[in-house]
Amino acid sequence: MGKKILLAIVVIVIVMQFIQPDKNISEEIPQSDFIVLNTPPAEVATILKTSCYDCHSNNTEYPWYGNVAPVSYILANHVNDGKRHLNFSEWGKYNQNQKEHALEEIIEVVEHREMPMTSYISMHEEAALTDTEVKVLNDYMTTSLNMTSLYKQKAE
Ligand code: HEC
Repeated sequence: MGKKILLAIVVIVIVMQFIQPDKNISEEIPQSDFIVLNTPPAEVATILKTSCYDCHSNNTEYPWYGNVAPVSYILANHVNDGKRHLNFSEWGKYNQNQKEHALEEIIEVVEHREMPMTSYISMHEEAALTDTEVKVLNDYMTTSLNMTSLYKQKAE
């Protein structure tokens, strides 16, 4: 690689440190939060907070290297993308169909171990789900799904 190109890359990376993406941090836990609304058993709440909330809520706990570009950009991208698909902080704003759909998707991605993302687990070992945790989480989500469907039938 030419020296000029290398120098240009170094300059870009340094400049990036000063133009950081917005952080996904909110001051309060909203009333629309999944855990606040549904009060799942402590075990389920812990799994969600440890393995899902960094990318699927309005509050990310950033690691120190989360302040370093380009990592900060990659994290911002994962969080924005994750929240667009599912935001536990705004669960209460979902209608019955959206809740039902979200619960189905959660069960599916957890069952197939597509979530939490592998790249995330490599940096957060504690987020990896054991077989027992998969069962605990999905049993709870399945009960929630059945209750949501029942509620919908009654409302129709
Ligand atoms: C490192 C960030 C990250 C973590 C942690 C994470 N997700 Fe995701 N999640 C994403 C991103 C990004 C997407 C959207 C892209 C995709 O589907 O791969 C997504 C998509 C999803 C979807 C939608 C799937 C679809 O097909 O539309 C569900 C449901 C989901 N995640 C559930 C979870 C659950 C449950 C956990 C915890 C057990 C979790 N995620 C942990 C980043 C994350």
